[in-house]
Amino acid sequence: MTQQPQAKYRKDYTAPDFTITHIDLDFDLLDSHARVTAKSQVKQMVAGADSMILDGDGLTLKKIEIDGKAWPHYSETTEGLILSQLPKEFELLIETDIDPAGNTSLEGLYKSDGAYCTQCEAEGFRRITYYLDRPDVLAKFTTTITADKSAYPFLLSNGNKVGEGDADNGRHWVKWEDPHAKPSYLFALVAGDFDLLSDRYTTRSGRDVALEIFVDKGNLDRATHAMTSLKNSMKWDEDRFDLEYDLDIYMIVAVDFFNMGAMENKGLNVFNSKYVLANSDTATDTDYLGIEAVIGHEYFHNWTGNRVTCRDWFQLSLKEGLTVFRDQEFSSDLGSRAVNRIGNVRIMRGPQFAEDCGPMAHPIRPEKVIEMNNFYTLTVYEKGSEVIRMMHTLLGETSFQKGMKLYFERHDGTAATCEDFVKAMEDASGVDLVQFRLWYSQSGTPELTVTSTFDETQQTFSLTVKQFTPATADQKEKQALLIPFDVELYAADGRVIELQCNGSPVGNVLHLTQDEQTFIFQNVSEKPVISMLREFSAPVKLNYDYSDEELAFLMVHARNEFARWDAGQMLLAKHIKANVVRIQQGDAFSLPDDVLDAFRGVLLSKELDAALIAEVMTLPSENEIGGWFEVVDVDAIHQVRDAIKHAFADAFNDELSAIYHTLRQERYTIAHDAMGKRSLRNVCLSYLALNENADALVSEHFNQSNNMTDTAAALAAANHAELDCRQSLMDTFSDKWTHDGLVMDKWFMLQGTNPADDALENVKAQMEHAAFSLKNPNRTRSLVGAFCNNNPVHFHSKDGSGYKFLSDILIQLNESNPQVASRLLDPLLKLKRFDEERQRLMREQLERLAALDKLAKDLYEKINKALEA
Ligand code: TRP
Ligand code: ZN
Repeated sequence: MTQQPQAKYRKDYTAPDFTITHIDLDFDLLDSHARVTAKSQVKQMVAGADSMILDGDGLTLKKIEIDGKAWPHYSETTEGLILSQLPKEFELLIETDIDPAGNTSLEGLYKSDGAYCTQCEAEGFRRITYYLDRPDVLAKFTTTITADKSAYPFLLSNGNKVGEGDADNGRHWVKWEDPHAKPSYLFALVAGDFDLLSDRYTTRSGRDVALEIFVDKGNLDRATHAMTSLKNSMKWDEDRFDLEYDLDIYMIVAVDFFNMGAMENKGLNVFNSKYVLANSDTATDTDYLGIEAVIGHEYFHNWTGNRVTCRDWFQLSLKEGLTVFRDQEFSSDLGSRAVNRIGNVRIMRGPQFAEDCGPMAHPIRPEKVIEMNNFYTLTVYEKGSEVIRMMHTLLGETSFQKGMKLYFERHDGTAATCEDFVKAMEDASGVDLVQFRLWYSQSGTPELTVTSTFDETQQTFSLTVKQFTPATADQKEKQALLIPFDVELYAADGRVIELQCNGSPVGNVLHLTQDEQTFIFQNVSEKPVISMLREFSAPVKLNYDYSDEELAFLMVHARNEFARWDAGQMLLAKHIKANVVRIQQGDAFSLPDDVLDAFRGVLLSKELDAALIAEVMTLPSENEIGGWFEVVDVDAIHQVRDAIKHAFADAFNDELSAIYHTLRQERYTIAHDAMGKRSLRNVCLSYLALNENADALVSEHFNQSNNMTDTAAALAAANHAELDCRQSLMDTFSDKWTHDGLVMDKWFMLQGTNPADDALENVKAQMEHAAFSLKNPNRTRSLVGAFCNNNPVHFHSKDGSGYKFLSDILIQLNESNPQVASRLLDPLLKLKRFDEERQRLMREQLERLAALDKLAKDLYEKINKALEA
């Protein structure tokens, strides 16, 4: 590092000295470079200010004028441009040259295959022109794009098209005007040749909106699900949140080279093609659901993010937590609420809890940031959504919606803070959220430890709840939070026992506010079974000494599906933990029959949805299990999880086989019921693959499949069970799909998670596959990411080969695409969680990376924290 990257602190926020009210952008897209001319109307905001710093990165400055005259009072720094001796109000013209074709970071203006596109969030606009690249500067944009007409027939930007025409040399131009003032991170430009799927939507108040989805040529038949999802999103936001779209056109462009999922640029979303393209031959049910969720997410940002944006990047969860909450509710209202909740909770308990106890631990509203791109995290997004969800639980839907209304009344058209949001919720509902605000500033995962006593003579049942948040890397001292704790009591016959305290009925949601609290329930005539933290009412860990019988009881009798699933998970957790200890002590694996009986009961249940049964039968991931231990023993965990799978496969062979055969569907549809049945059938297949003579069954499943869900399930089953047919099925698939990177991602992922002993050698070999490229983030994540994150036994190999492999790749990506490198680095950061030898090997690779002479800020921030800890 030549220069130490500087941290920014939330407490240091100051409003800008100058603002920009209008910007008129002109892009001349040439083969050799792009010429960008920005004409801005600048206004002094703080009396006496006469200089300003414009952000800029990698720009070649060509011209600076103020009010039409060359401006000599400036200096260029590595971070931008300092302008001085400025008047109070002026027109600033800046001309810069940039190199989109050489831009491999996929930030700013870059080329994805043959098309130009942009990614400006968080701080990418400064790679396009010198600007006040901060979210609290809101300007009205007009954008003119000129480019070759045959190579780039579509020239797109935000807002409405207000002019177009031909230019010299076979070129043409289009001019766009966005009537809504916006921060620079919401700017977008796309130029290219696409197939276009068009539709229309009429909003509730009668606005006729043109909907346009742009995809690579030949992919038109894969855009219909995205279009349906978009229309569903627009309708849902009207129905549930009373929010309508506010422009006459909504465009989505799908690109193959994209660092994240998608981007909510005003009126012109840019999407990773993974979240647009789907048909039954190429996409799995999970892909279809992912598209619906991400299309919804970006659409919902139009209000929560764009109309009300963030004052500064520390407030990111203001838009992301809230918008994730909204997309989760959208998916739950359209599909299965229980299955969606289970999926979200698995993410919290796995990767989010892991982030909370690692070196990058931060509150949902971070205090200190070096590289903003490092804070698009599970904590800001997923835990951020849980925090919104807790407010929703505490207020109820009606008051929550009143709070949303007040939030928009107060902050529409402005850049707001998390505090503004909580205040609106508080003022609209009258609910006191003073203590609740701690969720925004305190990091880490709280742990609840519960004990109970039943008093037969008093007919009372009491629950004592202790809350404790362990210290995190960023914050030693923790305080008690306001935790909504949803409980229910059951009698032995399954009847619900009404909750009564101090002589009157109380609701299910208890408010925990202290380190320790006791709740005494009256008129309880028998020792009840407690269902706790129902619906995962708060993002916390729960410790309670349940007996197997109680958990098996809840798996059958709990009134809500989520609670039944959760009881199954707790029963598994109990026996997984006990067995890991057994293995470590050299004892044999054992699983009592009562546990098997509980799961057999679920498998044979007539009343549970197939989709839910599939979830109950799906074990927690090795990563989630690792989170339950002080020191992660990857080998023992793998062994135990495997032994449970085999025990299930063995014990339930007949039931699994019967269900497998009855759930066969002739036709493929993506109705939720059909997806649920497929999901259960494929879970059955994954177990059946572990038994004798599974080759024939799995091959037949593969050969008879008429959709990608079943095809991918057969491949996964063959892969994980290491069947003889694995190689031939994998070859057949790759021969068929080599031309299609998105489909091949499923195959690369299986190579990454291959349990075979030579997994790493094989992953290295697949990097030479015709469909693979380290330049493409999706490919890289599928192969390299899957290996490092989801193949713990091999990634954490005691010879250190997995760690070295990852850091070899990071050395390449550090310069070409630091954003992708930084995400890929995460498994190496968690070194403290492993034994000393592994820690030493991981540290060795981190130190090797730290010594790189052009180490990107993104990696610098994380590596330093990991080595410091
Ligand atoms: N705002 C985007 C979203 O939530 C996230 C995003 C897309 C992003 N691309 C990015 C964030 C690049 C940082 C960098 O959906
Ligand atoms: Zn988002």
